[in-house]
Amino acid sequence: MDDLKQKYLSAIADAGDEAALEDLRLQAVGKKGEVSLKMRELGKMTPEERQVAGPALNALKDEINSALAAKKAALADAALEERLRTEWLDVTLPGRTERRGTIHPISQVSEEIAAIFANLGFAVAEGPQIETDWYNFDSLNIPPHHPARQEFDTFYMNRAEGDDRPPHVLRTHTSPVQTRAMEKQGAPIRVIAPGRVYRSDYDQTHTPMFHQVEGLCIDKDVSMANLKWVLEEFFAAFFEIDGIKTRFRASHFPFTEPSAEVDIQCSWVDGQLKIGEGDDWMEVLGSGMVHPKVLEAAGVNPDEWQGFAFGMGIDRLAMLKYGIPDLRAFFDSDLRWLRHYGFASLDVPTLHGGLSR
Ligand code: PHE
Repeated sequence: MDDLKQKYLSAIADAGDEAALEDLRLQAVGKKGEVSLKMRELGKMTPEERQVAGPALNALKDEINSALAAKKAALADAALEERLRTEWLDVTLPGRTERRGTIHPISQVSEEIAAIFANLGFAVAEGPQIETDWYNFDSLNIPPHHPARQEFDTFYMNRAEGDDRPPHVLRTHTSPVQTRAMEKQGAPIRVIAPGRVYRSDYDQTHTPMFHQVEGLCIDKDVSMANLKWVLEEFFAAFFEIDGIKTRFRASHFPFTEPSAEVDIQCSWVDGQLKIGEGDDWMEVLGSGMVHPKVLEAAGVNPDEWQGFAFGMGIDRLAMLKYGIPDLRAFFDSDLRWLRHYGFASLDVPTLHGGLSR
């Protein structure tokens, strides 16, 4: 028995891995292991012999089992040590400070706008850029042959010869998302809809594709006063100027009644534009109370619900806030411009962290 003990304890101590340990376990205390076979011989012994051999064999078995367990734990510790050593990483090395990509000012400004309106309880809604002319015009109280259709410089999609369904258009504004959002959600509703819009126009302040954000708020007793407050709240947060002045001018849109265009206070000194001071005004958006016919077209009962809508140019807001003089540069993909006007990719705009840094 002493020989057995010596043999196994030293073999266990020398075992190099778990597989070797398992072999030793089977050889010693497995069903057909040496110690197990010895235990089977107990039956053939005299009671006196058994009284001595039984406890001794049990003790041997226990001893081998605990040596196996201890060695197994030691092997696991060593394996962990080895991993820690080889996978070691120097976290004190300096990070890569070189900026590669940047966030485009339009993406940045869209995020800023969404953050501000989220804080005012507006969700984000979306619609397609290739739109039916029903959503783009008819649902917004612009029937066929209405003069307002001409004002939009619309891109019409070609139809196959002989297909006389009305054509699809590239949406000329984000207002069709009003209809889509109300159809989907009904009232009450509070959404903004940022996205691309298209008009056939090109000069320093116009590109055939640009960006708008629509706002829509429908409830039981929403008025122009709520519109004014929401917009003033928005401009103060967006331009980071408390008490920024706005001017509402009577205007006309087929889809709102009454309608107003909104200007913000600015100054022009030596060709330098400054927002929030001086006595000049800069037009930034169109707005009004949603026309009953628009509510009706979207399946919302105008006798029960009312509210306001507005639409503003995101590109224009970005130019004003970040002092970008030429709209066309937004879409030139000029790397030098993108590096100059772009934003660090991890500076996500939030109201608490700051909208722009
Ligand atoms: N859709 C209008 C435009 O593109 C803006 C607008 C939106 C006006 C909502 C009133 C209400 O000019």
